[in-house]
Amino acid sequence: MSKVAVSILDADILNLREEIEKVKDADLIHLDIMDGHFVKNLSFGANVCKRINEEFDFYIESHLMVYEPEKFWNDFFLAGSKRIIFHIEATKNPLKLIKTLKKNKTSVGLSLNPETDVKKILKYIKDIDLVLVMSVNPGRGGQRFIDDVLKKVSYLDELRNKYGYRFLLEIDGGINYYTGRKAVKRGIDILVSGSYIFKKGDAKRNLQLLKSIKR
Ligand code: DX5
Ligand code: ZN
Repeated sequence: MSKVAVSILDADILNLREEIEKVKDADLIHLDIMDGHFVKNLSFGANVCKRINEEFDFYIESHLMVYEPEKFWNDFFLAGSKRIIFHIEATKNPLKLIKTLKKNKTSVGLSLNPETDVKKILKYIKDIDLVLVMSVNPGRGGQRFIDDVLKKVSYLDELRNKYGYRFLLEIDGGINYYTGRKAVKRGIDILVSGSYIFKKGDAKRNLQLLKSIKR
């Protein structure tokens, strides 16, 4: 069975409570935080995280698609986000941020865009809890899955098996039952999905389909 992190970016924002209730079987809620600079889009702030945390008991992860994530992570941590995921492309000092996050006992995720070479994150992978492999260029939901990133997934999976690293592998962007199966076969532990859940028919059924995927 796969773990599924449901992204609310493409949920019906005017009925967010009902939308989240539809996916109460999700393993995590994935918040896509966008600053309009790192990605050409703005999404929402820590207040949304706080209200979801108050009303539901999900494990919440915040995917910070922001420059200088050092300035933003704490608001989401205080609002109840248990995992902070930042982009290797968005900070000058990833190691310092990793140490700060670990000192604050939050789960640390590091994300890389489709065109970012996986070698850029190798010196950090022994220190982190999760690698988020982007399978779309960040900034919007509903984009097509970029197959090429699966090579990175296999490479990271082999590396963690060879050296006993404990980081989880998560993939984000264009995930449906078909692309999800390809990703899980390569070693993905957690599937992030947004538009397939909220815009492609029965949310509950599509969530169950993703959860049913086996390696
Ligand atoms: C894109 C976000 C993704 C996206 C997933 O920048 O990081 O989490 O919302 O949406 P789908 O599943 O629709 O590609
Ligand atoms: Zn995301």
